[in-house]
Amino acid sequence: MNRKEFVKLGLALPLLNLYSKHVRGMEQMLPTVKDDFVWGVSTAAYQIEGGYNADGKGLSIWDEFVKIKGKIKNGDTGNVACNFYDLYENDIELLKLLKIPAFRLSLSWPRIFPNGIGTSNKKGVDFYHKVIDKCLKNDITPWITLYHWDLPNDLELKGGWTNRDIVSWFGDYVDFCTTEYGDKVKNWMVLNEPLSFTGAGYFLGLHAPGKKGIKNFLAAAHHAALCNATGGVIAKKNVTDGNIGTTLSCSWIEARSKTSKDVKAAKRYDAIINRFFTEPLIGLGYPIDTIPSLKKIHDYYKPGDETKLQFDFDFLGIQNYTREIVKHSIKMPIVWGKTIPPEKRSVDFTANDWEVYPEGIYKLLQKFDAYKKFKKFYITENGASFKDVISDGKINDTKRTEYLKSYIKSVLKAKEDGINVKGYFVWSFLDNFEWAEGYDQRFGLVYVDYLTQKRTIKDSGLWFSKYIAGF
Ligand code: GAL
Repeated sequence: MNRKEFVKLGLALPLLNLYSKHVRGMEQMLPTVKDDFVWGVSTAAYQIEGGYNADGKGLSIWDEFVKIKGKIKNGDTGNVACNFYDLYENDIELLKLLKIPAFRLSLSWPRIFPNGIGTSNKKGVDFYHKVIDKCLKNDITPWITLYHWDLPNDLELKGGWTNRDIVSWFGDYVDFCTTEYGDKVKNWMVLNEPLSFTGAGYFLGLHAPGKKGIKNFLAAAHHAALCNATGGVIAKKNVTDGNIGTTLSCSWIEARSKTSKDVKAAKRYDAIINRFFTEPLIGLGYPIDTIPSLKKIHDYYKPGDETKLQFDFDFLGIQNYTREIVKHSIKMPIVWGKTIPPEKRSVDFTANDWEVYPEGIYKLLQKFDAYKKFKKFYITENGASFKDVISDGKINDTKRTEYLKSYIKSVLKAKEDGINVKGYFVWSFLDNFEWAEGYDQRFGLVYVDYLTQKRTIKDSGLWFSKYIAGF
């Protein structure tokens, strides 16, 4: 679908009814924030762009992974996704109409460097200039993630994250991007959730590139941690007045019972999920005290690595969706624990089985603040997947709105209580390709009909727009 057709589909129409009676009633007693708090929405290149082989783009590990039978629900791929590659102008205009001040997006490394290293692809480089310029023209501040999981496949053929050379490959890529776009873009995030892409991609084999095993995991994790800090150093050097951060996936963890076995399992879970990529940054190293088997990660150390793992980021991006209740189990190596699904616990949960637990985001902010090492925090992802039903061209997604309200309330309480949390980004702007879940899970404030590429603003999107416009 081209731009004209997109407009013809009546994108603007629902916006004229932006504050329908129905939505007006949805304003809740949430506190207002009058300072420089940033409100935004988040996305990632592979999940929205499509254009997987357009204009000289190289293939990523996800372009390859989706070809493997059985890996992605319904055999879905990100080949077209939301076709943001062609529709970015309309989508950014939609952000403008929704009065969303900040847009988090990621750069596709293989769109910029088809082979990961070497010669850059002018058309790919220009694409992001056009996206950034369009944002700036519409008074939308771009927040850029340098790596949101789409490694150039040519680098994977050389071992990908398990090959230490990635530290220099990634360094060159970061150097290029922050030099190229650094005059226009001030807010940068180095990695998206290193635990997710090393854990799911190199230990469990559930995400690209589908590798498994402790050796792959520890090598990939150590190199990702080195890249995190190295990328921070380079971005800070290149971007004048830059606000340089990185993002971490975090979940609030509790033990199922007070038995020492369950308590210890919960501690190990917490060490992997919340401490593994956090503590090396501030000179504490990996949480080997809690999980002795992680000591093997030292096999991948070179002299000086303790220092190379550290970087004083301007901010930490906290990404939180849920809480996990953990019990002891001999089935899962390293953590020797298992999470208990919310269905078995009589609690509210989302379409992808994540417990709705807004208190957790407050507790996590407290936890990270207690290190006394991080200057400020942004919630760079939070949101929910629910089954959306279109009726009369509207999506009355009350559960998503309630979810967002409750989490925002918790974040603002943390702020009121003195924690330096400076912004909140909803995951996600658009429904999109949800990794191994394909298109089955919808997290968007805006509904995407993948056959026609028509966008329909959900009631949650209308609510968020109205809520933040009040500041
Ligand atoms: C995050 C990830 C996003 C998105 C989200 C919802 O872990 O960074 O890309 O998929 O989860 O599942």
